[in-house]
Amino acid sequence: MSNYSIKNLEEYFQVYRKSVREPENFWEEVAEEHFTWRKKWDNVLSWDFTKPEIKWFENAKLNITENCIDRHLLTHGDKTAIIWEPNDPKEDALHISYKELHERVNKFANVLKQNGIEKGDRVCIYLPMIPELSVAMLACAKIGAIHSVVFAGFSASALATRTNDADCKMLITSDGSFRGEKTIDLKGIVDKALEDCPNVETVLVAKRIGSDINMKEGRDKWLQPLLEEASEECEPEIMDAEDPLFILYTSGSTGTPKGMLHTTAGYMVYTAYTFKNIFQYKENDVYWCTADIGWITGHSYILYGPLANGATTVMFEGIPSYPDYGRFWEVVEKHKVNQFYTAPTAIRSLAKRKLEFVEKYDLSSLKVLGSVGEPINEEAWHWYNDNIGKKKSPIVDTWWQTETGGIMISPIPYVTPSKPTYATLPFPGIQPALMDAEGKELKGNQVDGRLCIKFPWPSMARTIYGNHQRYKDTYFSAYENKYFTGDGAMRDEVGYYRITGRVDDVIIVSGHNLGTAPIEDAINEHPAVAESAIVGFPHEVKGNALYGFVILKETGESRNQDNLRKEINQQIADKIGPIAKPEKIQFVSGLPKTRSGKIMRRILRKIASNDTSNLGDTSTLLNPEVVDEIISNSF
Ligand code: WT7
Repeated sequence: MSNYSIKNLEEYFQVYRKSVREPENFWEEVAEEHFTWRKKWDNVLSWDFTKPEIKWFENAKLNITENCIDRHLLTHGDKTAIIWEPNDPKEDALHISYKELHERVNKFANVLKQNGIEKGDRVCIYLPMIPELSVAMLACAKIGAIHSVVFAGFSASALATRTNDADCKMLITSDGSFRGEKTIDLKGIVDKALEDCPNVETVLVAKRIGSDINMKEGRDKWLQPLLEEASEECEPEIMDAEDPLFILYTSGSTGTPKGMLHTTAGYMVYTAYTFKNIFQYKENDVYWCTADIGWITGHSYILYGPLANGATTVMFEGIPSYPDYGRFWEVVEKHKVNQFYTAPTAIRSLAKRKLEFVEKYDLSSLKVLGSVGEPINEEAWHWYNDNIGKKKSPIVDTWWQTETGGIMISPIPYVTPSKPTYATLPFPGIQPALMDAEGKELKGNQVDGRLCIKFPWPSMARTIYGNHQRYKDTYFSAYENKYFTGDGAMRDEVGYYRITGRVDDVIIVSGHNLGTAPIEDAINEHPAVAESAIVGFPHEVKGNALYGFVILKETGESRNQDNLRKEINQQIADKIGPIAKPEKIQFVSGLPKTRSGKIMRRILRKIASNDTSNLGDTSTLLNPEVVDEIISNSF
């Protein structure tokens, strides 16, 4: 039996048990068999959650790009590493082989060096989903620079905050980007951001849209001419296992964004190992994750995890609705995608459209479907299963976080029997614990609590860049000796986990603990409902009451609203109980969402509480315009 590739449920349990009983032996075997090291570790793991300090594969030496690129050259040099699918389907896709990726990364690495970047320097990358983004990240990793990718949909002020927090001396961007029918003036946003970033010395600008932009003398340089002149040879920097690989910002429930710092060896081992198993990737498969590389999903499961396995990974520049709502399925057919990984919010938005958009395309290549980012509701799960997977591709509902670096709880397809809305079982090496309000661990099955992890795993973030105290306070102070995820979860009668949503979303109504996700599930099952969000607001008698924001499908828009409210309430009463019926239901045309598609409940809570004086920064929302509409129609 190999620890690396899990083939059936019995093997999963064997591997899992071993990973808990002898974690060090377990991870040592995984690391030894499947990666290229310049020097092996002296010690597999040392950890102390009270400090917190976590070190994996201590004193090992490596470069992650040797694992993601160089070692595949001899046997797979001509294999496609990255299929780049542009925004406009009329533009040709690119197939970048491992050999070509190697050359591109070396050239880019040399350009970084010529512009003064050294090991340990932070480089901010603000690029759309074009090949230069992947190449830039790998080039940083090659020379030991720390990349900090900022999603290219963020505003100038969000970019400036992140650039300064990481103290980046270089920024890499493009003239602009394509997004559906629109073009976005990225360089203009960068120029505005950099007015507040005195430490950025160099801006490298990739040409993508060919717009006429301002180039600041002495600071801004066109990237392509520099790449053309750069040498194809570049020796990798030999990195320590615990040297930083990248910083990635995630928003906290309060305060400034947190720069999660990930290190080299543990991150590599864990993302590669999870990728292999959770997508059951086989030689010659084509894998597609629709996320943007600006999020952790893209870092771990578009770039590092797939490339470490020598996989072919699709990088998509466009959006699901352009030129029409069939775009995802067109791309699946075109590139014969075998594994498809997306977010529930995308599934729900596509499920609202006519089925013709799906039925036009041949989806028979699909073997595994993935979901990530938020709880997937029953209705979306079934739509995905019936119409995309045709009931034969297992759905992997993968639970994890920016902080965890890799997938933590997930089915293994063709191994773990699936159950809609359940992330099912912990991945080998992951030891979850459910805690009650008093801080006691809830043992056994059929329990409901706060989700913690009680043992380190290789890809966990090591700190918040520049603020270790905040790292400790946020993740290691709520429960002694445990990493606190901020999520609630239940464990069912067979030990399957269901993530019930952020704990800050739990609402206590008349002393009853209500998770928002199951209520939203019940509402969404109403045939006229497209999407919904439930928040709490203060109530004299009940402590808290519920306020529902509901988006209707086209078919529901013409119906009598009072009747709809009654039906929705009945549905909730039937599925959960009368206690879960919202006090107020407001029909809205959209919900305020973050760029990664998460509902901004903080804003909805304020609106529900009639406290709209200080809504905070709404400029980074995907759709800031809906906020005013919701306020003006609120109760
Ligand atoms: C939060 C982390 C992990 C990459 C994308 C999001 C929620 C994530 C699931 C899932 C239910 C999920 C959790 C988590 N979440 N995946 N499969 N089921 N909830 O990364 O922005 O760091 O967000 O997303 O609440 O804590 P992130």
